[in-house]
Amino acid sequence: MAAPDRYAVIGHPISHSKSPIIHALFAEQTGENMRYEALDISPAELEEQLHACLTDGFSGLNVTVPHKENVIPLLDRLTERAELAGAVNTITRATDGTLEGDNTDGLGLIADLRDNLHIELIDASILILGAGGATRGIVPLLMEQQPAELMIANRTVEKAEALATTFAHLGNLTARGFEQLEDRNFHVIINATSAGLDGNIPPFPASLISPDTICYDLSYSMHGTPFVSWAKENGCKQAYQGWGMLIEQAAESFNIWRNIRPDTEYVRKRLPG
Ligand code: ATR
Repeated sequence: MAAPDRYAVIGHPISHSKSPIIHALFAEQTGENMRYEALDISPAELEEQLHACLTDGFSGLNVTVPHKENVIPLLDRLTERAELAGAVNTITRATDGTLEGDNTDGLGLIADLRDNLHIELIDASILILGAGGATRGIVPLLMEQQPAELMIANRTVEKAEALATTFAHLGNLTARGFEQLEDRNFHVIINATSAGLDGNIPPFPASLISPDTICYDLSYSMHGTPFVSWAKENGCKQAYQGWGMLIEQAAESFNIWRNIRPDTEYVRKRLPG
């Protein structure tokens, strides 16, 4: 048999990444002859190591924190959605050796919300908490689902306002500070802050949640996340961690590289969530 094609995820730190397990399960399920590893690359080594990887036989890379934005100047071109997101999570080496950056995070979120969890997004009121890189990546695809409104709330309100202005042409998009949310509840609330990573969450008003509200955390952990605990304690209808999005964005990357979309159910059954 020919040597397997090689892929990797690059990040810093990277030891907890589930991407090698997910891609190994995709390869098993589809019968693709490939290997996928995790490479710890610090910001200072990014440029040198990226080119070393891609001239050293890797056919593609996934990119995670903290490189999703910094990798852009090192690539030959971006897809339209990576350009819009201002971030790259998938790099493909073309047959002529050039590097294309893509972003499958938004597609992964929509696939999980709509196709796996059957959450109605059309005409829904949606709130995103946070206005960093993760939010920028998901706003265009959420707006494509034609919600009644999308509100972005952030600790630093100016960053929420800047994103709402950038994407104003896509529909009903507004911005708030966390302290300006007391009077509203939403059908869907998405946590895109990195606040839960230290075990705490900001004081989001409990009044955001009605018994019909569905909460979704882009973060995930083997032990649950503070946002999901907060959402359940305040009586939401359902609250989910971002395991499904993680698997779906990986499936989109796999599809870009191998031209076959794996059955994500096969992986979802084998990971927590
Ligand atoms: P990512 O790529 O994960 O989005 P980021 O671009 O650094 O990372 O954005 C982090 C987001 O989490 C921001 O919205 C940040 O709020 P600020 O813009 O006000 O900094 C939010 N965040 C991080 N820690 C937070 C905390 N303790 N309380 C509230 N928001 C927090």
